[in-house]
Order: sequence, then C-alpha cells, then structure tokens
Amino acid sequence: MHQDVEQILYTEEDLRRRIRELGAQIAADYAGRTPMLVSVLRGSYIFMADLTRAIDLDLTVDFMAVSSYGAGTVSSGQVEIKKDLSDSIEDRDLIIVEDILDSGNTLYYLMDVLRARKPASIRICTLMDKPERRVKPITADYVGFTIPDAFIVGYGLDYAEKYRNLPYVGVLKPSVYTQ
Ligand code: PRP
Repeated sequence: MHQDVEQILYTEEDLRRRIRELGAQIAADYAGRTPMLVSVLRGSYIFMADLTRAIDLDLTVDFMAVSSYGAGTVSSGQVEIKKDLSDSIEDRDLIIVEDILDSGNTLYYLMDVLRARKPASIRICTLMDKPERRVKPITADYVGFTIPDAFIVGYGLDYAEKYRNLPYVGVLKPSVYTQ
C-alpha cells in the first residue's frame, strides 16, 4: 500500500467484480443499440478502459476534458471545456462515464451542453457516488459504489495530480492535504 494511503476502500478484485456487473447491466439495457461512451477526463480514464471491455456490445468511445474552478477540494459551478468531443453525438445513445460524482456541478453543466447537441438519449455511469455532497440535482443511472465523504485517490482519482496510477481506491491520509 502507498505510504500516503490510510486505508484501501476497494481492492483491484472489488473493482473488477463490480465493473463486470455494470458492464453486463449496460449490455442488457442497450441490447440492439450501439451506445457512445463519453469519458470525462482525466479521472475516468482507467474506469473507461475497464468498463468498455466489460460491455459485450458494439459501442464507440469519445473523450472530453473539463475543468472546474474552485478552492481546494470543492468544485465550483463554473466549468470550462478543455477538450471537446471529436465526433457528433446527434441521435446517439450517450453514456457519460465518470470516476466520481460529488457536488454534481461538473455533470450539471455538461448535461446541458450535451443535451443541446441533440443526442437520442443520455445516461450517466459513475464508478463512485458521494450523494451527501450533492449541491445540484444530478442522479447517476449506473453507480459502482456509493461512498461516504472521504478523500479518496487511486484508480484514476488524484490529489494534486498524484496517485491516479494506484490500482485500488484508497483513503488519503489527512496529513497529506492538511499542512
Ligand atoms: C472530478 C471528477 C468529476 C468531478 C466531480 O474531476 O472526475 O469530473 O470532479 O465533481 P463534482 O460532482 O463536484 O463536479 P476533477 O475536477 O478532479 O478533474 P480530473 O478528472 O482531471 O481529476
């Protein structure tokens, strides 16, 4: 375990098992269709790679990068598109793939932007959901794990851009972010 991690919340095996279930559920729900999975970078890149391989269907992928401005660990309502999608989403069945749904600010904004481009449907798939922290009315359609309000890192999630490469999800030691 990394020295800055206090506790492992989900092991590699926990993640693998749950993502397999999510993939099977999505494949069943979208049978006969070709969904377009949109990864919201950067945090979702590892989840996206594993989730798409767990969906036994034809699908396409695209990527978007957004940043939200806020002090420290809380995102603000202001979101900026840093990298837009490469393809048109008109008439497509979109599944937005996120690593974590927290205040909901990012997806609240993004849903508005994407809806205006007239997709056939939009659903949200998030690996982790922190409903306690929500300030915007956003609900995910597929949730890997509902988690308490702890500072978590790993499996794509960072603190100051570090720890994304940890293969598990862990709770960061408070001493790392409270100096
Ligand atoms: C994280 C996460 C979501 C967003 C969720 O991204 O990937 O996009 O925060 O928070 P919210 O519900 O409060 O808006 P972050 O801004 O940390 O960027 P990153 O994906 O590059 O790590």
